[in-house]
Amino acid sequence: MEPVTQIDTPPDALTDTALTDTALTETLLTTLSSYQHLEMGDARALPLAAYTSQDLFAAETARIFRNEWICVGRTEQIGRVGDWFSADVAGEPVVVTRNEDGDIRAMSAVCRHRSMTVAQGSGNSRRLVCPYHRWSYDLDGTLVGTPLMSTPNRADGTSCTLPSFHVETWLGFVFVSLAAAPEPLAPQLTGAADTLAPYEMSSWRTLIAFDETWPGNWKLALETALEGYHLDGLHAGPIADMLGSKGSRFVEATNRWSCFRIDVDFDSELGAPTKPFADAYGGDDATSSPTISIHPHVNISCSPAGAVWLNFHPLDPGHTRVTGGYLVPPSEFERINADPDEFDATRELIAQLNREDSSATIDLQRNARTRFAEPGLLNEREEALVHFYRYLANQLVTTDSTGSIGS
Ligand code: FES
Ligand SMILES: [Fe+2]
Repeated sequence: MEPVTQIDTPPDALTDTALTDTALTETLLTTLSSYQHLEMGDARALPLAAYTSQDLFAAETARIFRNEWICVGRTEQIGRVGDWFSADVAGEPVVVTRNEDGDIRAMSAVCRHRSMTVAQGSGNSRRLVCPYHRWSYDLDGTLVGTPLMSTPNRADGTSCTLPSFHVETWLGFVFVSLAAAPEPLAPQLTGAADTLAPYEMSSWRTLIAFDETWPGNWKLALETALEGYHLDGLHAGPIADMLGSKGSRFVEATNRWSCFRIDVDFDSELGAPTKPFADAYGGDDATSSPTISIHPHVNISCSPAGAVWLNFHPLDPGHTRVTGGYLVPPSEFERINADPDEFDATRELIAQLNREDSSATIDLQRNARTRFAEPGLLNEREEALVHFYRYLANQLVTTDSTGSIGS
């Protein structure tokens, strides 16, 4: 028998390389440019450096998260006049309000005095009062109070108004864009809205809210949510018995969103109690459940009894804030609130799903830095990844008139 040769594990590939991060990013962008026209037939995962590069992360922040529609919450969080909640959009503190006219507003939460954050968390009030020196703003961001300032007041209304951002709602989700003139979101999502129409999600309520930090790149966290191929592996047991890899299939995609479906086994332990919900939907939804992903970072995964909604907010190349919740129809919300113990098993199941998905993200992130890892071939059940990669490449790679690739 041949002696086993011990191979020394090489140092980390990225720190061992002579490439500067800028050169690495140019190499990455050149590689990514080929993903703009990726087809399922020759689809591969992304280059692993895409999950670790600080420069690529900066490009994603600038070109994607500071421009695109970013989901920050649900309209139910601001149901009444004066309701507000804070959010972070690409590192920018934002506050979303329901103003005196009943309209939703989104604005910078950075005080116009000396830049303290004026609103953190959530609340209901007619005024947003900065905790530093108590300058106050109305629900549209107009400065209305400057304690102890000299008269006439040197703080003029226009320059001291909190900058406002575009806000749009879709199926009860609140989206904010920091761009000056973003393309309206809803017309880009008509096909996704058609798919989700039977669920009447606009009125659904949040039964469980998520807010976690996963130690992995946002794309790795999202990619797990883009396919059902991993169900038999990562979620082996009752979950996969109900929603198995074999019954998952890619359905359709545009540059803005994608959809895959998973057949529901109603003979399984978890599937049987959900059959009445599925029967009520009819059509495809009577036998399978859709998952819709909205580029860049939203995932809405339906089951007959409710939907898991996740947003993946990049914090740095190796960390992702995961927010969202478990949504149910209003009648279910009332019923479960009247008897919360009955929901314990479902609550634990959802927590398990998130734990298993986050554990994959952590492992994948670690291996993104290993020397012998290579981007592998994709299964046809992973076709939504192809469309996400194309979207990513389109956003990040620009080609100037000479045909060279820029960042
Ligand atoms: S920083 Fe807000 S009042 Fe001073
Ligand atoms: Fe999963």
